[in-house]
Amino acid sequence: MKIFKYKDEEALGAVLSVDTAMVIVKVADLDRLRRMQVNRLVVLQSSKAGQHLIGIIQKITRSSVEQELSAKEDGEPLESEPLMPQLNLVRVSLIGTLIDKVGTKENVFRRTLETVPEIDANCFAVEGEVLTSFMRVVANVADEGQKLSLGHYTLDEDAEAYLNGNKFFQRHAIIVGSTGSGKSWTTARVLEQAAILPSVNALVLDLHGEYAPMEGAGIRHYRVAGPGDLGNKKGLKDGVLYLPYWLLGYEALISMFVDRSDQNAPNQAMIIGREIVKMKKKFLEQKKAKALLENFTIDSPVPFSMDELFAEINNINTEMVQGARGDKQGDFYGKLSRMIARLENKRTDRRLGFLFQAPAEANELSWLDELSRKLIAGTSNQSDKKGGIKIIDFSEVPSDILPLIVSLVARLTFSLQQWTSLEKRHPIALFCDEAHLYIPLRSEGDAANEVSIKIFEKIAKEGRKYGVGLVIISQRPSEVNHTVLSQCNNLVAMRLTNAEDQNVVRKLLPDSLGGFGDVLPILDTGEALVVGDASLLPSRVRVKEPNSKPNSGTVEFWDRWAKSSCEDGIVDAVEAWRKQNLQ
Ligand SMILES: Nc1ncnc2c1ncn2[C@@H]1O[C@H](COP(=O)(O)OP(=O)(O)O)[C@@H](O)[C@H]1O
Ligand SMILES: [Mg+2]
Repeated sequence: MKIFKYKDEEALGAVLSVDTAMVIVKVADLDRLRRMQVNRLVVLQSSKAGQHLIGIIQKITRSSVEQELSAKEDGEPLESEPLMPQLNLVRVSLIGTLIDKVGTKENVFRRTLETVPEIDANCFAVEGEVLTSFMRVVANVADEGQKLSLGHYTLDEDAEAYLNGNKFFQRHAIIVGSTGSGKSWTTARVLEQAAILPSVNALVLDLHGEYAPMEGAGIRHYRVAGPGDLGNKKGLKDGVLYLPYWLLGYEALISMFVDRSDQNAPNQAMIIGREIVKMKKKFLEQKKAKALLENFTIDSPVPFSMDELFAEINNINTEMVQGARGDKQGDFYGKLSRMIARLENKRTDRRLGFLFQAPAEANELSWLDELSRKLIAGTSNQSDKKGGIKIIDFSEVPSDILPLIVSLVARLTFSLQQWTSLEKRHPIALFCDEAHLYIPLRSEGDAANEVSIKIFEKIAKEGRKYGVGLVIISQRPSEVNHTVLSQCNNLVAMRLTNAEDQNVVRKLLPDSLGGFGDVLPILDTGEALVVGDASLLPSRVRVKEPNSKPNSGTVEFWDRWAKSSCEDGIVDAVEAWRKQNLQ
């Protein structure tokens, strides 16, 4: 099916001049000029049959010919201005070619210019259904099957904005915008459509419990255990998630237990590493897991006893050895004291209960199978055949260790995908909300940040090979790690007011379309600039409201103050703060 079937009389205008990729089109009358708008698409006749050139309107001017001429002579416009002939000019930047047929493929769009238009070539509008089908070609979206649609084009409400669902996740995506610009709603819109797919597989890292209202058979909710959940035996079934310490890699454990500024830090790191290996070995020996014993490393997800580790390190710290003249202090005597204090602090901190106070069964080898199925299986492989989109609420995780815990989940996901054979590997997407909090620009000497950056950089670079797609969501793109951002080939930019953030996003736009960056600060709430692999041409899209809307957490100050009475929660708040438990 041909997309463009124009008759000559439908032309908006004709080409007046051509300059490489820039074309000036002369528009005959005002009615036609009114149908043109900056950033809209037009199509131009090409000198080759079976090809059309696609352009974006950059500038529209209307001037009176005589007026310009006379103004040059005496500097004053003539009084009879309205009677002067008008010159309506539209500047169009050419961006690609639509070819009717290449081999057996119909309607192929290329971001190259294989020809330029000739003088007097006709220029037509691309709108309504023609725009929809053209953009579908651009996004390479099949006519059949489940589609990913964000909403409608701002400049043309009759045309639906589709994305190529394969490319969107394959080559990673970012959703950016100032706070309140509609990122979470856009994310919800994407999730909602994915949720319908029978084998969908995604993890949503939800830092503030914003996505709690989302529902449907394809969606399930987990919450990282908070202090109020501890000791709750049924915990695991309630969607409460424990992430035991033994899942942390060596570097993550070190960053938690060893203070780098301590002069004994290298010794402490060495001892704890050595002892953890011993403990893991002991565990495997007890379980008679022979095959594992031969190959495990310090980073292997093997449980070990924290109590025994603690006791052993205490021993080393107080060890006396035989010297030439009686007993003397061991090599590490007293050198581990500060690490021991740190360890003890963390171990007993109820806010870290999800790490250190998990139920006993979480310290068994088989427990990781269960956790992995929960997190990494798509809908059709879940035990209840539901909920392949897993929204994990991290709101009770203390902010200083947030990067460690989020990256633990990311590492688990990536490692499992890496260790799945190619035939069985099922793609999974990681939606990272508020990414600047745990994938920062620089680690700033913070060991937890370093661990997290490393894992996310790895996923950004290698994820495609292993079927892990990232969707980075942030209000401060300039504060998100640049290596990670630069690997994202899809951009959904919502309103952005901060200049630094705008610059980061501008750099991600294709060169020939730099002007599009100018709309960033003036986008409406819920409106997005979309460009990338999944949609080769940049376009302004009005994102459709999701059915179940995330909590935006906006409080109406003035309205609430205007009420004659309000709830009194102070006593409860003091109590909850002390107990570290809101329930
Ligand atoms: N697509 C949309 N259509 C209409 N209103 C929207 C849309 N997206 C967001 N909004 C409005 O903006 C508010 C903030 O959106 P939200 O997605 O929470 O912003 P962000 O996550 O960027 O901070 C929402 O509560 C809603 O009122
Ligand atoms: Mg949000």
